[in-house]
Amino acid sequence: MKYSVISRGLSFLFLWGLAKAFIHPITIHGHYFVDTVSKEPFFIKGVDYQPGGSSGVTSLKDPLSDPEECARDILLFQELGINTIRIYSINPDLNHDVCMSLLAAAGIYLVLDVNSPLPNQHLHRYEPWASYNIDYLEHIFKVVEQFSYYNNTLGFFAGNEIVNDPQSAKNSPAYVKAVIRDLKMYIEYNSPRPIPVGYSAADDLKYRIPLAEYLECIDSNPAESVDFYGINSYQWCGEQTFYTSGYNLLVEDYSKYNRPIFFSEYGCNEVSPRIFEEVNSLYSTDMIDVFSGGLVYEFSQEPNNYGLVEILANGDIKLLKDFTSLKTQFELLPDINYNYVANSMRRNAKEIQAKLKKQKYALPICDNSYDNLDISKGIPQTLAEDMIEIGVQVARGKYVDLDPVMLSSKFKTFEPNGELHLGEKSIIPVVDIMSGTDIVRRPHIKGFNNCTYNDTEDDLSEDSNSDSDSEQEESP
Ligand SMILES: *[C@@H]1O[C@H](CO)[C@@H](O)[C@H](O)[C@H]1NC(C)=O
Ligand SMILES: *[C@@H]1O[C@H](CO)[C@@H](O)[C@H](O)[C@H]1NC(C)=O
Ligand SMILES: *[C@@H]1O[C@H](CO)[C@@H](O)[C@H](O)[C@H]1NC(C)=O
Repeated sequence: MKYSVISRGLSFLFLWGLAKAFIHPITIHGHYFVDTVSKEPFFIKGVDYQPGGSSGVTSLKDPLSDPEECARDILLFQELGINTIRIYSINPDLNHDVCMSLLAAAGIYLVLDVNSPLPNQHLHRYEPWASYNIDYLEHIFKVVEQFSYYNNTLGFFAGNEIVNDPQSAKNSPAYVKAVIRDLKMYIEYNSPRPIPVGYSAADDLKYRIPLAEYLECIDSNPAESVDFYGINSYQWCGEQTFYTSGYNLLVEDYSKYNRPIFFSEYGCNEVSPRIFEEVNSLYSTDMIDVFSGGLVYEFSQEPNNYGLVEILANGDIKLLKDFTSLKTQFELLPDINYNYVANSMRRNAKEIQAKLKKQKYALPICDNSYDNLDISKGIPQTLAEDMIEIGVQVARGKYVDLDPVMLSSKFKTFEPNGELHLGEKSIIPVVDIMSGTDIVRRPHIKGFNNCTYNDTEDDLSEDSNSDSDSEQEESP
């Protein structure tokens, strides 16, 4: 404990250091997420976060509107050792600057769904034509407008499990693509940097391959193509292996996908408490070629019983057994085999260059039909041309100065057995978001600097990518 007090004191000194650094935006190359600055591949290690479930979003409150609750929970994110959270809905009329600054300072990224359960804020899966309207588009653009200004916004989900039965598969796929297109066009015209737009799918075998392929294909406008794909997968329950769980088939089915894929939800609770042994598979060479990690469903205990922690009525936290076992699994994880990843990235880059020699886009052109989906009516025209051109009015996100009070939690945390939990009381900043100082230097992985490529660039400089370059190395 003493040690951490001392190191925290040092951290605050470093806040005012001179070196420039910041939470690096993440981008996409081929089917990898890549840190825009270090050029290292980024693997999502995270949890889904929506305290209060769908009723947690109102005109007064959402998961990022209360700085004290954010500090309380981010402290536990740091204890788990995660780098990303997913939030299902926020209210863009509220202020999120402190919570986003706290997340950024802790080195944590956000994948944000643009929809909410409130009226006019989501697509209706059976009658999307009625809900695809100006009010809806204004809502999703406000979310994008505000969160584009935070560098730790990793991406936006255009939708979650909209296609999940025969009726929705008949009516909604083309509308999902319309929303993806509108979001991407909005970002292109209005956002300070490119932010990828994805879709989060229910893993139903009827739609697994066709929907993923349909969402990534291009008809005429490349903006209709999804930038990444999330899968909500609950097929590894209790003690399984890569093979008995069927993860091997997931990898096989998606091995030709052109864009990053990750588990946007995982963590079957049919066997409880959960032991999370799937974590080991997810970050092993069995999967990292195809999957960029995943998000455990979910941080807080809600009626469906997937929680890692229980939020008590007074705001204190009770850790559940699942929290402890997930934390242990994350701690036991060996480092990602970056050497292996570097080779895969190089192969991926070459495949893309080869495709671009033959065709205009590295992505596939759309087929006339996809199994189990009705796409016959085509993608509806946008209703949002003006809004995209002019932009929508909402407060743009910005990082704020954090002081030690904001970083510390005023709530108590209890162990599963009811004893007081002895953890940190304060978020330990790893990035200084204001002056841009790296407080805790992340190990830098050599060999990735030139392992990236530009989808429209013709040649890939290979000489600087020899294998000996890609060994892991700790920075001084
Ligand atoms: C955001 O990232 C860009 C690099 O893409 C960097 O120039 C800028 O300083 C960062 N902003 C903040 C507030 O961290
Ligand atoms: C990709 O390359 C093209 C042409 O060289 C350039 O205009 C574009 O800015 C590059 N994009 C990125 C993301 O580097
Ligand atoms: C990476 O490529 C750039 C040009 O594309 C070059 O200037 C730079 O020296 C290369 N870096 C390394 C480490 O080889």
